[in-house]
Amino acid sequence: MSSPIDIETADVSYLPDFMALVTEVGWPHTPEDVSSLLLLGRPWRAIDRESRETIGVAIWWPMGRGCGRVGLVIVSAKFQGYGIGRAMMQKVIEDAGTRTLMLLATEEGKPLYDKLGFESVGLTQRHQGHYSLSSTIERKTHPARLADLSEIVALDARVTGFDRSSMITHMFDTGKTNFLRAHDQITGYAIARPFGLGNVLGPLIARNEDDAEALFAATAGPGILRIDRLIEAEKLGQFLEAKNLPGHEVTHSMARGSPPVCRGNGHIFTMASHAWG
Ligand SMILES: CC(C)(COP(=O)(O)OP(=O)(O)OC[C@H]1O[C@@H](n2cnc3c(N)ncnc32)[C@H](O)[C@@H]1OP(=O)(O)O)[C@@H](O)C(=O)NCCC(=O)NCCS
Repeated sequence: MSSPIDIETADVSYLPDFMALVTEVGWPHTPEDVSSLLLLGRPWRAIDRESRETIGVAIWWPMGRGCGRVGLVIVSAKFQGYGIGRAMMQKVIEDAGTRTLMLLATEEGKPLYDKLGFESVGLTQRHQGHYSLSSTIERKTHPARLADLSEIVALDARVTGFDRSSMITHMFDTGKTNFLRAHDQITGYAIARPFGLGNVLGPLIARNEDDAEALFAATAGPGILRIDRLIEAEKLGQFLEAKNLPGHEVTHSMARGSPPVCRGNGHIFTMASHAWG
């Protein structure tokens, strides 16, 4: 690589550049998916100074004052290995200030994050397949209305330690949300929304496995379905396998700084996405 590069902030007007790189690496995101990631995050791009071509992208999402997540980190194949990934990540780290940053690392991305001080704090597995059942409204699950949103956001913050209010509001607006209630309090919720080739089901937060399965059954609909399951939710993994949703690659969840403290009486079973945790 001969020409120097610049690292600059970006916005949604660069959607075609971000989509070109997403397509190059073969990720499933649609333009709508990437547009939401851009609108809710702080995007950066690496530019070849001579051609002004976008040759790398990265986005991070503030989730409260103490935390953020990073995703959509891509360097175009012919520019890889020249320090562009590292330079973009350094801008992201600088921009995020003292926040703990978390991400899900691909096999290719992990060596870069290792070198930047990220440490593995868990594993997730992608399940994907053609789900054939219609949603079954169980006695205890309820479809969420706008009036339930603030309580869902509060539960999510207690259980994850992240303030994901803008992301959850977006997912609520574009997807289907169900929740569980006990003793007059929301104790679990799940959202399914369009993503990539079909739908993704997550976040799914619940007190226990039975609640998680009830939320899954109420929220999943027929078609291509993806679930990013925390590896420790083993029983849910078997449940998904039995529903024709086999497990695929396992991905490292990594943190730079102390992961947020979780105070809620609930567990994360599935993630919203690689980007939003
Ligand atoms: C991951 C990716 C962004 C790295 O970008 P890059 O510009 O090639 O990385 P850099 O050249 O800045 O490398 C940064 C450091 O990581 C190391 N590194 C990068 N890829 C590596 C690999 N596959 N194996 C070992 N080390 C690697 C480099 O040696 C370098 O170390 P150094 O700075 O101490 O010399 C790029 O490979 C990519 O776009 N991959 C496809 C998409 C993807 O998987 N993204 C990650 C999403 S989580």
